[in-house]
Amino acid sequence: MSPHLLSVDSLSRDQIDHLLRVAARMEPIAQRRQVTRVLEGAVLGNLFFEASTRTRVSFNAAFCRLGGSVCDTTGFTFSSMAKGESLYDTSRVMAGYCDAIVMRHPEQGSVAEFAAATNVPVINGGDGPGEHPSQALLDLYTIDKEFTRLGKPLAGAHVLMTGDLKYGRTVHSLIKLLSLYAPMRITLVAPPGLAMPDHLIELVASRGHRVEQRDSLASDYADVDVVYTTRIQKERFTAEMSEGFSLSRDFTVDRAFLDRRCGRDTLVMHPLPRDSRPEANDLDVDLNGDPRLAIFRQTDNGIPVRMAIFATLLKVDELIEKDLRPVRWFVPTRVGVDDAVL
Ligand code: ASP
Ligand code: CP
Repeated sequence: MSPHLLSVDSLSRDQIDHLLRVAARMEPIAQRRQVTRVLEGAVLGNLFFEASTRTRVSFNAAFCRLGGSVCDTTGFTFSSMAKGESLYDTSRVMAGYCDAIVMRHPEQGSVAEFAAATNVPVINGGDGPGEHPSQALLDLYTIDKEFTRLGKPLAGAHVLMTGDLKYGRTVHSLIKLLSLYAPMRITLVAPPGLAMPDHLIELVASRGHRVEQRDSLASDYADVDVVYTTRIQKERFTAEMSEGFSLSRDFTVDRAFLDRRCGRDTLVMHPLPRDSRPEANDLDVDLNGDPRLAIFRQTDNGIPVRMAIFATLLKVDELIEKDLRPVRWFVPTRVGVDDAVL
């Protein structure tokens, strides 16, 4: 495996399957039943130059749960990039302090540029509208885990992706990952001007998947196994695009859509954050508590998957079980009050 995780393009099917298997072995630690110190002494540098809750905190928590420590910086204001320091210099400096680095940056390609200056593993936590490979891995892990629970095969699955497919980096990485698996049916539903880039549609179609584009969720959809909805990435809009833009309610995934168009075991996923302001028309809160809503199981899966990424890149994946002991503190059976009992 490449020393860095910058794009899902660098991962073979075998490497992806290995990461998912390592993630499954991390579950007892992620679920706070066991403790390991396999990364004791190691230091992670978390550099976030764009807003983040999940990626920043879960990479941090994953490293800590492996026994390591974390140093972080958020925003340009508190980094010396505000004084004009280059990605190259920042990278070399951070490599002298840290054993692994996670970076999120608003410009596509910037994390790869940063990684080119260091031999310390660098993970892309999101580079502008480019990619978000760790999110795609946790999305795939979620789909695989939920399908196993539901007794469904991934081969032939019908995945519907909706929302901002143009700027949504999570769907860019996810569609590429899914394309490495047995042929599926992929339906893409985007508002005008926010369609999935053509090169990704061509790539997925060339790998034998059936890809269809629709312009509204009001169309007829049959046998949808996964609805993957995304937030409109307004922070990437030009001033012209922002002017007067509002997302029609036709793109909202809610209970009515699910009851009308989907089955009892359709999964609803979203990389989050969902924009909960009413005018945003993002994923509706009326599905909260519905077992089909997998969004918080998805965020929980960020921990074992990110632990697996660290353990694999830092080559301790074979040592995890040697170092386990039971936790000693109180952990509630369900961490969320509305968590579905499956
Ligand atoms: N959190 C995801 C990302 O950073 C999705 C989003 O922000 O809408 O790409
Ligand atoms: N899914 C995701 O990347 O969330 P954050 O933007 O909160 O990190």
